[in-house]
Amino acid sequence: MTNETPPTIYLADYQPWTHVVQSVHLAFRLSPTATRVTAQLHLAPNPNRPGRHDLRLDGENLVLIRAAINGHQVKATPDATGLTLPAASLPAGPFLLETEVQIAPEGNTALEGLYMSRGMYCTQCEAEGFRKITFYPDRPDVMAPFKVRIEGDYPVLLSNGNPVAQGPGWAEWDDPWPKPAYLFAVVAGNLVAHSGSFTTMSGRHVALNVWVRPGDENRCAYALDSLIRSMRWDETTYGREYDLDVFNIVAVDDFNMGAMENKGLNIFNARYVLASPETATDDDFGRIEAIIAHEYFHNWTGNRITCRDWFQLCLKEGLTVFRDQQFTGDMRSPAVKRIEDVLTLRARQFREDGGPLAHAVRPDSFIEINNFYTATVYEKGAEVIGMLKRLVGDAAYDRALTLYFDRHDGDAATIEDWLAVFEETTGRDLSQFKRWYTQAGTPRVTVDEHWDGAGRFTLTFKQHNFATPGQPHKDPKVLPLAVGLLNPNGDEVVPTTLLEMTQNKQSFTFDGLATKPVASILRGFSAPVVLDRSVSPEDRALLLAHDTDPFNKWEAGRALAKEVLARMVTDRAQPGPDWLDALARVAFDESLDPAFRALALRLPGEDDMAQTLHMAGHVPDPAVIHTARRQMAQALAGRLAQGLPGLIVSLAEPGPFTPDAVAAGRRALRLAALSLLSRVDDGARAATVFAQADNMTEEVGALTCLLDIGRGQAELASFHARWSDDRTVMDKWFALQIITSAPDDTARITDTLTRHPDFDWKTPNRFRSVIGALSGNHAGFHHASGDGYRLLADWLIRLDPLNPQTAARMSTAFEVWGRYDADRQAMIRGELQRILSTPGLSRDLGEMASRMRGD
Ligand code: PHE
Ligand code: ZN
Repeated sequence: MTNETPPTIYLADYQPWTHVVQSVHLAFRLSPTATRVTAQLHLAPNPNRPGRHDLRLDGENLVLIRAAINGHQVKATPDATGLTLPAASLPAGPFLLETEVQIAPEGNTALEGLYMSRGMYCTQCEAEGFRKITFYPDRPDVMAPFKVRIEGDYPVLLSNGNPVAQGPGWAEWDDPWPKPAYLFAVVAGNLVAHSGSFTTMSGRHVALNVWVRPGDENRCAYALDSLIRSMRWDETTYGREYDLDVFNIVAVDDFNMGAMENKGLNIFNARYVLASPETATDDDFGRIEAIIAHEYFHNWTGNRITCRDWFQLCLKEGLTVFRDQQFTGDMRSPAVKRIEDVLTLRARQFREDGGPLAHAVRPDSFIEINNFYTATVYEKGAEVIGMLKRLVGDAAYDRALTLYFDRHDGDAATIEDWLAVFEETTGRDLSQFKRWYTQAGTPRVTVDEHWDGAGRFTLTFKQHNFATPGQPHKDPKVLPLAVGLLNPNGDEVVPTTLLEMTQNKQSFTFDGLATKPVASILRGFSAPVVLDRSVSPEDRALLLAHDTDPFNKWEAGRALAKEVLARMVTDRAQPGPDWLDALARVAFDESLDPAFRALALRLPGEDDMAQTLHMAGHVPDPAVIHTARRQMAQALAGRLAQGLPGLIVSLAEPGPFTPDAVAAGRRALRLAALSLLSRVDDGARAATVFAQADNMTEEVGALTCLLDIGRGQAELASFHARWSDDRTVMDKWFALQIITSAPDDTARITDTLTRHPDFDWKTPNRFRSVIGALSGNHAGFHHASGDGYRLLADWLIRLDPLNPQTAARMSTAFEVWGRYDADRQAMIRGELQRILSTPGLSRDLGEMASRMRGD
């Protein structure tokens, strides 16, 4: 790259393409260094762009072999980003453009376009990777049916759609559904399938295959089962049926993201496919189920209805995340799923929204679109849909979705289209609600409670919408606030009521109450806001014990814990009996779901605490937070000690491992108890659990308990000896040591592990397991020496020329610099500066570093 500033793309500049693509025929002749791609594009002028226009096609790193229009060779000279054929050289009506290019998949380390992963060919085209395969209008609003022929000496040759014909060394595929280029995919290699089938609600038989490397076929059952359940769920819940004769999933080792929803040919990061009880934890099983569902659900929300342009990314991602969250809630426990989703939202999205990378759910400009696959677009995008559903009600939501699918099937749509179906089915004006899509930042809500002594209780809310980069002024948002009221004895006197807040300050009254109630506010986390509310520890304990809303029940315990931890950090206080007793009651309450109890026992994270303290006006000291949190765990362990061994024994699962939610919840509670017990028995019990474990959840769980208390070196070695040939398990081995390391050792241990022969840094999963663990260890990463910062920057600079997308994503560890003291701020800003002055820096990492620096 040159040093020129790359251009900014604006939503306001959108124009339809000059032409339309009526159909596409691609032929691939595979070779690691010289793959030939022939493209036949049936083009016609676009009636929505009157006049005669040049034909501009995107294309990067392509060697043009030849180009012809209607069979006549044309002279064309590509530039750095594409190819222009002047209007004068084009026929007036429809025409056939044929191009042949040469590409080198073997040298493609960015993992975008056609690349190789351990001997197999695969593609990744979202967002703008198709232009690295052939010259094409690489934009989502250009949709066309594709036919593909693949030639290559590999046993398995796959593409989108239905198989048409095949022979030794070739195969042909036909995808009848018009699609944008970003959903194109090709896979070739020596693969084996774990197969099944599905009959759709209208009787279509669909062949299902999970394609993996030979030897991995016995780790596909859970992925296939998750796929079948997803297909059934989308029929019963959304009335959406699958639309091809085959559905293929391929697992690849080298992948920048989680997975990709290519039409009929989903490509997955192998870690989100492969699972067996011995190698995958309960969390892994849960993620596999959710991601399989997510990619499958894209078939309707993303593929059949796609995005007009990349600014509308949340149209497909927010909705598809929302759908996969609903699915997991239905498959497992809605309450537990909601708590987990809010934990993620706060940890990732609130953090993003509160720093220099804050952006709207629908941004209005970008430099590199790959930098906008963010927690805001995905997770907040899903929250916005949840709010919409809460506001209009379940029945109206269903009607709106039906209209959306009917009206926009086959379209490249916008957020305006999406909101219009809700407006039309409900008669509601959503213009204010739309601010959730256009204005960045997490609203902070304060509440004032007034009891008049005569039956009337008034809640007065204020919403504060602070400035974010590029958006100094904010307007009030529509906030659905779900509220319930409890009597001081714990009985619910007012069931969940949805208050609709639209102004900056607004009061709501409840009449006819016998006594002053205890309010349960923001039930189910009904809006993605920060609720600033001072509640007495007694009332928090009451809510923890009696709230009928499971989310707020958990939230009461969490708020209590954060207050305790905050006082330990700021006042060197000790955890008091309120919190310890309340938690003891939850821990041993057998009427509660074990998964819920495990969540209640999880202490607030250090990064979360740093953010909370920062928002309360303190300058967080990572080392002090770390020490206080350990003391907190120690105090809790002391309080619960007597009951822990019994709990651990009673939660042991007899019989063979099953990955279902009930068994997983029991294991989660058992391991939470084991972690606490380790702090009082010096790891004796954890060592036994490790030695006897017959599944990865307990093996890695017990090992974590040991490492957490500074033990477990022998176990770590035996774990390595046992699993050194298994990539996904070895990723855990790397990450664990760094995550559990003491802050003074984190950078050194990370550095040592980067010299380990198995640290294959060009594989994103391994890079993330080591370098991502470094930034995931809060006190270690933010160590006063600055060693953590330096090490991260070194590795980002090293990775960037090979894989800019992954380097840019991982740079977000630096987005939090504004929270900390002047020394740390200066050190982080220094590292950002060092990154920015690196010659040849990518557009991806360049955009991120300069936004983080606040340019
Ligand atoms: N569209 C993918 C998903 O959400 C994510 C992805 C984006 C994958 C870009 C690869 C590249 O499921
Ligand atoms: Zn998605």
